[in-house]
Amino acid sequence: MDPRVSVVILAAGLGTRMKSKTVKVLHRAGGLTVVEHVVRTGQAVAASSDIVVITGHQAEKVQQTLAPYKVRFALQPEPKGTGHAVKCAQSELPKEGLLLVLYGDAPLISVDTVHRLIAAQTASDAAGTVLTTRVPDPTGYGRIVRDNEGNVAAIVEQKAANPEQLKIDEINSGIYCFRADLLWKHIDSITTNNPAGEYYLTDIVAILRDHGYPTKPLELPVADELLGINTRVELAEVDRIFRAAKVKSLMLDGVTIERPDTVTVDVDVTIGRDTIVESHVRLLGATEIGEDCVIGAGSVLRNAKLGDAVLLDPYTLVADSSIGSAASVGPFARLRMNNQVGEKVHIGNFVELKNTHMGVGAKAGHLAYLGDASIGAKVNVGAGTITCNYDGVNKHRTVVGEGAFLGSNSTLVAPIEIGAGSYVAAASVVTDTVPQDALAIGRGRQSNKEGWAKVRRETIKKK
Ligand code: UD1
Ligand code: CA
Repeated sequence: MDPRVSVVILAAGLGTRMKSKTVKVLHRAGGLTVVEHVVRTGQAVAASSDIVVITGHQAEKVQQTLAPYKVRFALQPEPKGTGHAVKCAQSELPKEGLLLVLYGDAPLISVDTVHRLIAAQTASDAAGTVLTTRVPDPTGYGRIVRDNEGNVAAIVEQKAANPEQLKIDEINSGIYCFRADLLWKHIDSITTNNPAGEYYLTDIVAILRDHGYPTKPLELPVADELLGINTRVELAEVDRIFRAAKVKSLMLDGVTIERPDTVTVDVDVTIGRDTIVESHVRLLGATEIGEDCVIGAGSVLRNAKLGDAVLLDPYTLVADSSIGSAASVGPFARLRMNNQVGEKVHIGNFVELKNTHMGVGAKAGHLAYLGDASIGAKVNVGAGTITCNYDGVNKHRTVVGEGAFLGSNSTLVAPIEIGAGSYVAAASVVTDTVPQDALAIGRGRQSNKEGWAKVRRETIKKK
């Protein structure tokens, strides 16, 4: 049996090189905070109760972000280095078994690689195994110094390295699997005796070796997964890698994505087969899209839920709303928040919906604002219809019964009820309940002044 694996994730640093008010691990890549990716990787190999995240800078914010993951936390009151950080979690972690160490700023590591690291450590008699790789420019990374047997003799940080060591192109990923008993036994031997005056976790390797316990490398042929984020340039690169992988996996699952390099898809988005995503689309958050949909160019969906065969014409914005199957929306429509759009609904250009329910087959073809409204099935909303939902203090609801016909430019002053099957005459201002099957007319009566225009033209000419 594999020994029990616990996970410690280091996320206490501010990330000075990000030049940000926000701690580094809360910046986003692929639509998730950087540290969330690392926590999810940890969850693939250990129970949440066996994962300890070390927080320090903005600890509360990090803990809030990670609350849904049910992991545990340890506080590092001051960022005195990665060795000190791990030490701060000691009381929260088992004394034996294997300890997987992950850095909160290296989110690309795959579950597969972590499994391989644990397997390599389990199969060996070493004190630990460290993931390494070779890069053309190792600047900033800890260098892997190997001994004659190919074991890791030491990890030397950039600031502490001599010219010879600086030339080493094999780098420390910051991902390790240690025997917990040996790590805890020797962690107090780490000192701050280095140019940065920090407790370097990396020093543990040489310390263990001095006590006769070797650390082995697991060298990855490609560096991609081990990329750490220290600057916003690296953040953008990691984001690009996540998104390219996401788009590729969607395509392999049967989604057509036009110009994949122009679309932005967050990692949790799901899309059904034979849906077509046109260029420059952004699909964000927990967006779920059914089969056979078309997502028009330039559309932005955030936490949107679409049924099957939904047609979104270009430049449609949908946030926190659902759209039923076979509905068509856009171009240039905005579903702002908390809308439920039924099946076969049609919403055309320059229509805004907020907190509105539209029943099956209802239509709002052009230029309308429907806020805090309940629009019945098969209602026709004429061009220019506006719900006056706000009286300057409170919001009020508009309820339109099934099959009603709202003439163009209707002004519906909420709270208001418009009965099923009724008509509202074009350009009416509706302030009173409209009974079922009635016609409501609320506008100035037209009068014509015969010959008025002709007389006017002639008077102007004389002057
Ligand atoms: C570290 C490694 C380096 C490795 C590189 C890989 C050390 C000493 N160096 O360098 O060998 O090549 O990662 O990306 O470990 N943190 C804390 N508390 C602290 C200091 C850091 O929690 O007191 C956290 C940070 O929030 C971050 C992680 O540890 O998530 C790594 O710290 P960072 O300062 O970025 O280390 P590097 O200089 O990149
Ligand atoms: Ca780093």
